[in-house]
Amino acid sequence: MSEISAIKEGDHYDERVADRAAPETVDIDRRYRERIALGSYRWFLNSRLYGALEHAARCRVLDVACGTGFYSVLLAKFGHQVVAIDISEKSIEYAKQLAIVNGCSDNIEHHVMDISQLDFDKDSFDIVTGEDSIHHLIKYPNAIENIYSVLKPGGKAYFWEPFAYNPIINAMRFVNVRVKGHLGEHFLAEDEERKLISVFDEVEVSDRAVLYTVARFFRKPGKISRRVNIALKKFDDYAQSKIPALSKYYSLGFLEMTKS
Ligand SMILES: C[S@@+](CC[C@H](N)C(=O)[O-])C[C@H]1O[C@@H](n2cnc3c(N)ncnc32)[C@H](O)[C@@H]1O
Repeated sequence: MSEISAIKEGDHYDERVADRAAPETVDIDRRYRERIALGSYRWFLNSRLYGALEHAARCRVLDVACGTGFYSVLLAKFGHQVVAIDISEKSIEYAKQLAIVNGCSDNIEHHVMDISQLDFDKDSFDIVTGEDSIHHLIKYPNAIENIYSVLKPGGKAYFWEPFAYNPIINAMRFVNVRVKGHLGEHFLAEDEERKLISVFDEVEVSDRAVLYTVARFFRKPGKISRRVNIALKKFDDYAQSKIPALSKYYSLGFLEMTKS
């Protein structure tokens, strides 16, 4: 059961949206290029997420915990029909503006909605997705069951998420959450993975970041970060292939869940 309420978490994100640049100044294509081509910290996870959907046939996609809607816009630009939900009213207001500014408001439907009260027909989405979302949602009642229910049979749920298996990163996150006052962080660990496996028919975590985690010190996109981050990713994959026990200590990963 959650230690904080969804309303409190929504209020917290409402406050954080106030610090955002106005939607008019956000160039989605530039941010997309930065996140992937320039190799910013989570480039490989974003490229997995976007790669799964960029060239897919047009489908009905649910973006859960869409936040300020960057990813919803990208999905709409890929040609999908997007429904985006978040508990934070201010985030949804921002997401609507962002969709208008980027010329894709006809293809995105926004709702202020709690994941526990997900109000869509059963079997109505081809894909459910989100960036950095499941670790916030999983603590709320029926969150995972609701996601499963709205997916069509054969549908997929794709997320990139932080996981709690790297003790050094856990210590850094502990400090971060306290110093920066982040609310609702609940990194995925064995209990949560068991929960996902009990609801979905198949669950796979790939692109596990273990040694790559050092890349968090090269977050700013740029030529040097790109080289360092790509080299670190290659080294991490190589080290995990040689020492499989290492791959237990991942702090980030790509989550793919299937409803058969
Ligand atoms: C880390 S943010 C992710 C935002 C977005 N996916 C992105 O990458 O920009 C987590 C989001 O979860 C939303 N959230 C938290 N609890 C929720 C709930 N019970 N139902 C729906 N959204 C929720 C918050 O309002 C916040 O926007």
